Amino acid sequence: MSSTPWIVEWIDEFSLHKDIDEEHQQFIEHIDLLNSALADQARDKLRTKVILEQLIQETEEHFDHEERIFASLSIESVAEHRDRHAEIVSTVKTAMQQFDSTELPKVWTEIAMSIKSVLIQHFLECDFAEIEKVRH
Ligand SMILES: [Fe+2]
Ligand SMILES: [Fe+2]
Repeated sequence: MSSTPWIVEWIDEFSLHKDIDEEHQQFIEHIDLLNSALADQARDKLRTKVILEQLIQETEEHFDHEERIFASLSIESVAEHRDRHAEIVSTVKTAMQQFDSTELPKVWTEIAMSIKSVLIQHFLECDFAEIEKVRH
């Protein structure tokens, strides 16, 4: 991954399972869109909101799919992983309510960045940990 937190690029090491790689690639593309909205000096809250809402909706669909894949791979900790997903969905939905309730660019930008980091952190840390169990 690039050394700058503003750019996320797909690398082969992200490849986990053929059925979810495509969704993870799409996730990274949407993170890049979010980054460009947040880096834009125009501070367009509506544009950022549209991207965030789509990102969250796709994340929910992806989580559901990923849980089914992990279950099919007989990953024992699938229940724990499902709980992590539920926590994340709850966290980002609460954050979206906070995002909606402020017009201060500094505040909604920070909220959007916190949503981004929760999602990226899960992808980089938790998804990998699960797949590594299958690889070995
Ligand atoms: Fe995932
Ligand atoms: Fe996951």
